[in-house]
Amino acid sequence: MIPIRASEITPEHIYLSRRKFMVGLGAAALLAACGRLAETPELPVEELDSPTMPDATTLPEGTAAPEPLSTPRPTPTVKPDVKTAFDAVTGYVNYYEFSLDKEAAAVLADESLQVSPWTVTVGGLVNKPRVFDIEELLKFEQEERVYRMRCVEGWSMVIPWLGFPLSRLLKEVEPLSNAKYVRFQTLADPDQMPGLAEMTFPWPYIEGLRLDEAMHDLTLIATGLYGWSLRPSNGAPLRLVVPWKYGFKSLKSIVRIDLVEEQPTTFWMASGAGEYGFWANVNPEVPHRRWSQATERRIGETRRIPTLLFNGYAEEVADLYPDLTNRDWFF
Ligand code: MTE
Repeated sequence: MIPIRASEITPEHIYLSRRKFMVGLGAAALLAACGRLAETPELPVEELDSPTMPDATTLPEGTAAPEPLSTPRPTPTVKPDVKTAFDAVTGYVNYYEFSLDKEAAAVLADESLQVSPWTVTVGGLVNKPRVFDIEELLKFEQEERVYRMRCVEGWSMVIPWLGFPLSRLLKEVEPLSNAKYVRFQTLADPDQMPGLAEMTFPWPYIEGLRLDEAMHDLTLIATGLYGWSLRPSNGAPLRLVVPWKYGFKSLKSIVRIDLVEEQPTTFWMASGAGEYGFWANVNPEVPHRRWSQATERRIGETRRIPTLLFNGYAEEVADLYPDLTNRDWFF
């Protein structure tokens, strides 16, 4: 394990002021939820919705078809990334199976999610379906990848993950030629996850990638961060990390992976919430239907910085998507 350097841990005063800032945001912040209420009310595209949490089933349907994009915007120059403090990465999380409140979700998940023993079933359109014990996956060579994570809500972090490319796992099961997509599923256990009973979402949390996205070298299965094993709050014992897409694609605590022919219906698509759809590639020019995505706030900082096309990974991934003037890639 790589030890955490003292310089990488938030000084107490910054941590305390962050807490104060968050308390100051009051009820609206507590209700801010991925794809529901952005934390960027100073940059509205339209007026923000009421902060009252609507029931998932009563949310309005999706956005009207917008105009195609003119040209993809060149990537602006930004300062080098500074890693987000360990306390912030682990204490400020989105994990709806536990709570909509980011800090409460972290506490509840860390208290109650049992991450050992743990197995991941990998099947569907593959030659060699298998149930992997987490111990087997931890024997794959683990590497550190420092990635930006951009939440659809308008905040971001820079996280030093540990893990292995998803392609390493998929090669073990040998996808068949008719496998076109990968469908991922999070644990859904009401005994451990209070949010399942409290919220009318279409559990379990499902996400998906096209097979070539899944096989891309940037696509990571994370098993740790900052040199430590992943905490339950961050999706232990293993989660997906797709750095060029909005953070909600990077689902936590995976129990099942299936290779499939048809594009999977994701948790957010099934919620009927009119939020982003399957692709959800980051693009500052394509606003959420209720707020701009042009800028973001790094957690632990107050300034806002420009959001980058594909979250800054355009050079690596843009060629996965023909005709970037098509807005569909960004919903
Ligand atoms: N995975 C599950 N199972 N449940 C969730 O609520 N939230 C998503 C994603 N993965 C979520 C999830 C969202 S909205 C974001 S932004 C990222 O996790 C946040 O990752 P973090 O909490 O580790 O920062």
